[in-house]
Amino acid sequence: MKGKTILERLRILDCLQDTYRDTLKEDARRGLTAPRKFLPSKYFYDDRGSRLFREICRLPEYYLTRTELLLLRRSARSIMGGMQAGDIIELGSGENRKIRMLLDAVHASCLPSLRYVPIDVSAGTLLGAARELLHAYPGLRVCGVVADFTRDLARHLERISFEDRMLLTFFGSTLGNFTEEESLSLLQNVARILQKGDLFLLGVDRVKRRDVLESAYNDRRGITSAFNKNILHVLNRELHAHFPVESFDHLAFYNEEEERVEMHLRAVRRLSVAIEDLEEVVEIEEGETILTEICRKFSREKVERMCSATGLSVLRWHSDAREWFSLVELAPCSAEGSLMLP
Ligand code: SAH
Ligand code: AVI
Repeated sequence: MKGKTILERLRILDCLQDTYRDTLKEDARRGLTAPRKFLPSKYFYDDRGSRLFREICRLPEYYLTRTELLLLRRSARSIMGGMQAGDIIELGSGENRKIRMLLDAVHASCLPSLRYVPIDVSAGTLLGAARELLHAYPGLRVCGVVADFTRDLARHLERISFEDRMLLTFFGSTLGNFTEEESLSLLQNVARILQKGDLFLLGVDRVKRRDVLESAYNDRRGITSAFNKNILHVLNRELHAHFPVESFDHLAFYNEEEERVEMHLRAVRRLSVAIEDLEEVVEIEEGETILTEICRKFSREKVERMCSATGLSVLRWHSDAREWFSLVELAPCSAEGSLMLP
């Protein structure tokens, strides 16, 4: 029987459609008029921001991607052992290097029984990554979802009828880019989506020495600085804002008390920035910062507490020898709190 063409194996659901600009307007107004200015980090990822993030992942200082790939290489076979059919859902999928590790551990004859469901706010990145996978893995079906996974995740996924087992992945320690409250709500939503026999694979960056963390976010080539400043280019383009990007410094440091790296943009002089689409002029003092990202770092106890508070049970930890990064296999608990093993 003739195999299906790439187009027949690809489906894209755009759940952002025309809400993107309205949400950006709301978020920018809220963040830039707050007493301590902030912007949500999801706005880094236009096409340029996604390209810069890909470069970050290959930097010598940015150990996170390298270490997680090593853990995946080591554990992919055991993770995929029971997953010969069903859906692999990936939150914040970005490029496709990590999912390839899992797909490579599956026998080629099983690929037509699997469907890959990447979810990302960045439509261009999602489509590019999906096309590459369809070429590389004959028979695999892809259903890409352009959406914010912090909003209405269950509703977006309802538009896809799930077939069999589900493996949900959340790599890169992207969970760390959300506050404790946001993370708990996200994990709770994940736990509600999972059924008995499903698996959740979570990548987390661990608490470690300040110098290692600070160099990962202050690389010598200045790629992280360009990535950070890209958020201002996004506002200038999308909201007709007038941020003089060269008047901001990249600032990234480890806040030990909060166990998080903070990325800020610091104004080198006093600025009045017009944002035409908001009909606002934002006043920024010399030295004042805009918080653009938090990157929380996790202890094992912290992950275990968060998971048990949200209805998830730890099945297995995979960590590198230095315990710099961990991949955690999780399963949903039943309503009574007993584990629902795959
Ligand atoms: N998972 C990949 C990419 C991490 S970068 C890796 O581990 O290397 C974070 C990715 O999540 C980006 O592709 C970004 O567009 C996406 N993202 C960030 N916040 C998001 C949100 N709220 N909803 C959906 N996607 C989001
Ligand atoms: C996507 N996220 C997990 C990255 C991180 O390390 O928090 C984003 C990043 N920011 C600066 N460098 C990388």
